Amino acid sequence: MAKIPPFDVEQWMDKYETIPGVLNVAETCCSSISVQDLTRFNTRQNAPAPLDLSTRLTYGAIRGSDELRRNIAALYEHGSSSLPFSPDSVIVTQGAISANHLVFYSQIGAGDHVICVFPTYQQLYSIPKTLGAEVTLWELKEENGWVPNVDALEGLVKANTKMIVINNPNNPTGAIIPTSILAQIVGVAQKHDIILFSDEVYRPLFHSISAGHAPPSVVSMDYKKTIVTSSMSKAWALAGIRVGWVASPDEGIIKDITVARDYTTISVSRIDDQIANYALSPEVRPGLIARNLELAKTNLELLDQFVKDHASVVSWVRPVAGTTAFMKFKIGDKLAEDEEFCKHLLDTTKVMLLPGSKCFGHGETFKVFVRIGYVSETAILKAGLRQLSRYVKKYSLK
Ligand SMILES: Cc1ncc(COP(=O)(O)O)c(C=O)c1O
Repeated sequence: MAKIPPFDVEQWMDKYETIPGVLNVAETCCSSISVQDLTRFNTRQNAPAPLDLSTRLTYGAIRGSDELRRNIAALYEHGSSSLPFSPDSVIVTQGAISANHLVFYSQIGAGDHVICVFPTYQQLYSIPKTLGAEVTLWELKEENGWVPNVDALEGLVKANTKMIVINNPNNPTGAIIPTSILAQIVGVAQKHDIILFSDEVYRPLFHSISAGHAPPSVVSMDYKKTIVTSSMSKAWALAGIRVGWVASPDEGIIKDITVARDYTTISVSRIDDQIANYALSPEVRPGLIARNLELAKTNLELLDQFVKDHASVVSWVRPVAGTTAFMKFKIGDKLAEDEEFCKHLLDTTKVMLLPGSKCFGHGETFKVFVRIGYVSETAILKAGLRQLSRYVKKYSLK
């Protein structure tokens, strides 16, 4: 196995997010809630509590409880796919990070070729590489609104391409792959018999897309060799329970993942399973997602106003989904270099952003981009933007 490279985004977060007084606007989760907060969204009279304290702490259901897998499967029921999709198509994991790992660990090896969108969460291209696969990065372009170019994809496919990896909505850009483009990607995968794997951890946080225009999940698109991963962390504001999942209409893929998972997971905490099940239940889910969509919209308006107010020195492609945006700042008449900018900003104002090339480009690519995570508590975003505005006035407009 190749040497595992450092996971740059996680290391940056770990290094700076706990420094005293930090204004963390680099976070990717919708502002996290407690179990107590969760009960506020429940619309059912006399509903059972989110947690049954008498539960014996055995390993529990190995693949995740039936109820939880049923509630997860229900998230994918709205597509037009003719393929059967049931709780058996779902396996519960410890966060999307384990889900992603299991997908690669069970499907990819030496001799395989993997195509992965770029920029995205580093795990999605670094892990297949460490497993011995050849990885080609399918670069997204700012000038295309960060939407992938399918003609370019066709040119990247090789005889041994085993998997295409997408991330929809995308971290860090906050862009989506619209339905028509997604259908073309499915077409390419189908034509060459390639697995299409989509990390959909920011789904369904489509806060700036008109009703009916949100792209479907890839597992709802009538192509069997599709896999999705997701979790409770981002759109559901419950990262602390570490519940995620893999889902696929392909029984063979689910079987492979189950075999691999026996070696890494056994089961997910029964306590976490119960809380996730409560959050995704029909009585709680609508209120919870409404809270997060509302928070995202409110905060994005503030960020949008900030960009407009500083338009001579700040630019971006306005995000339409998820929790993050890729932005550019100018110092004088030059675009600011990401790492130097983020460190100086942190030192002088305590505002924490993420450097684009350090965490997503791992070299020169995305050198002039920084990622903001704007679905924090509104008060933190406001304080962060106030400081950022002062900083920009002092250094960028000097
Ligand atoms: C695209 C993407 N996938 C997966 C993860 C991992 O999320 P978790 O393990 O908390 O579910 C993240 C976290 O930032 C992410 O951005």
